[in-house]
Amino acid sequence: MNLLVVKANNRPEGVSSKMYETFMESIKDAKNLNVTVYDVFEEDMPYFGQELFDAFGKLQSGEGLSELEQRLLAAKQKAKDVFAAADVVVFVFPLWNLTVPAKLHTFIDYIDEAGYTFKYGPDGSPVYLMPEKRIILMNARGGYYSSPEMQKMEHAVNYMRSIFAGMFGMQVTDEVVIEGHNASPDKADEIIGNGMRKVTETVEKLVYQYV
Ligand SMILES: Cc1cc2nc3c(=O)[nH]c(=O)nc-3n(C[C@H](O)[C@H](O)[C@H](O)COP(=O)(O)O)c2cc1C
Repeated sequence: MNLLVVKANNRPEGVSSKMYETFMESIKDAKNLNVTVYDVFEEDMPYFGQELFDAFGKLQSGEGLSELEQRLLAAKQKAKDVFAAADVVVFVFPLWNLTVPAKLHTFIDYIDEAGYTFKYGPDGSPVYLMPEKRIILMNARGGYYSSPEMQKMEHAVNYMRSIFAGMFGMQVTDEVVIEGHNASPDKADEIIGNGMRKVTETVEKLVYQYV
């Protein structure tokens, strides 16, 4: 099974960074996994904008590409290639300022392409092009966002679920969310410890499914 792990935090002390470390430690002896790590803070990922559309135009007309346009096309293609090759994709990411880090958003911008992850059907509704792909979301957030009032303000897990299940029709099989460790510092160790156990349980389920 081809597993892609998208790491979306470069803070060594980040709780989601520790979720990533726990995840990687838990899969290290699994023989049935072919693992690729895509670290959004290590990759060259220029932001998505008009330069990309200029590059598409120049490719068609045969005009030379600027350095930025070349970097954008190469980065987008790399993200699409690693994503397409995976049976299961695990995203490990923090809630920062109510949403995902911009680098992770850029990864989504690269793969959210009509004709690649989805296309429009004759009546305008989306047709899913990779519906068999499985997605696992792992997230840490310092406050509490599970109540109905707070849920609406959360744009990290909600966003990722909307993209992968809603927009691309993929199967979001597991979500591990660690929350409240900043809001309740007296319970932080317990909250984080329970969350890390859920990370390893998710790995056990994943490995067991594919033996
Ligand atoms: C730049 C930054 C922004 C943050 N914004 C929020 C926020 O909007 N809401 C919240 O509950 N916690 C916020 N936090 C706390 C994180 O959600 C918390 O540290 C959690 O563990 C995920 O981030 P981490 O993996 O980097 O630790 C923020 C932390 C950082 C570093």
